[in-house]
Amino acid sequence: MLEQNIEGIDFFLDLQPKLENFKDAVIQGLGHDRKYVPPKFFYDTEGSELFDQICETQEYYVTRTEIALISAIGSDLQSLIGLNSSIIEYGCGSSLKIRALLSTLISPSEYFAIDISKSHLIKTVREIAKDYPSLRVGGVCADFSEKIVLDQPKGPSLINRLGFFPGSTIGNQTPDLARILLERMSATLGSNGQLLIGVDTKKDADLLNQAYNDKLGYTAKFNLNLLTRIKRELQADFDVTNFEHRAFYNENEGRIEMHLNSKEAQDIVIDDVKFSFKKGESIHTESSYKYTEGEFSNLLSQSGFSLVKSWSDPAELFRIYLAKVK
Ligand code: AVI
Repeated sequence: MLEQNIEGIDFFLDLQPKLENFKDAVIQGLGHDRKYVPPKFFYDTEGSELFDQICETQEYYVTRTEIALISAIGSDLQSLIGLNSSIIEYGCGSSLKIRALLSTLISPSEYFAIDISKSHLIKTVREIAKDYPSLRVGGVCADFSEKIVLDQPKGPSLINRLGFFPGSTIGNQTPDLARILLERMSATLGSNGQLLIGVDTKKDADLLNQAYNDKLGYTAKFNLNLLTRIKRELQADFDVTNFEHRAFYNENEGRIEMHLNSKEAQDIVIDDVKFSFKKGESIHTESSYKYTEGEFSNLLSQSGFSLVKSWSDPAELFRIYLAKVK
């Protein structure tokens, strides 16, 4: 039974997402000519806590700028989306952003969150249900990068769907994969659907470089925690301090790249497979694409959406787009 009764919320659907095997992904990525590990593996318990700490650093402007922007655009947004929205959030992180949105809109009627982690999802939607008693609240346990059909009678209303995808998480996909994800969102949101999405802007390279190299070192810890996780969960025997965090803006690609650089020539063994590193060789752990308004509007229109309006803070650090399904 995919639909389940969960105390404290109105609807729960478990689409039983396949959890990608960490060991297979690491062995595959490190076996590549250019070694990589997908960024989704950052977020174990420690990694998620470190990410929350990054969001509070002075250099990482993304979170506070987006939250302030959501509050600032409230009445404009309300008049564009109309009343009684059924908000569908893709991924539920610390829930600061959805709370900012729910508090700024006059009368959203429903909130559904989609997340791959069932325990985190249930905890978050229960808290929202408790704090916003007039909302219908539900959870969908699913990998939001997959196709998701939400047509269950007790699921999100088919009219007035508003997808919400904050945090510039779209930037962690290549533009090609971002297009596929947006196309899937447009199918889930349906013909009257709209999408509210936060996207980091292209800007001065120094500001970008500082945001991913904060002075307190949380981003470095977040990146290096991936190696601690590999050591612990895959019983690999190597010294994490033989690697260092490196993050820089790649102007040609329009993205921040995060790497773990090997400080010396070394071999590491995972599950009897040996991986040799030259001195200075890196594991590419994350790309974070930045977009101009024109570039992102084009991406939206190539993915089944048309732009309604976009807003930015005065310093143009961050931009929020409202788009409707074509
Ligand atoms: C989650 N994501 C949008 C963050 C970003 O900015 O790409 C992840 C992050 N990596 C380092 N700092 C923040």
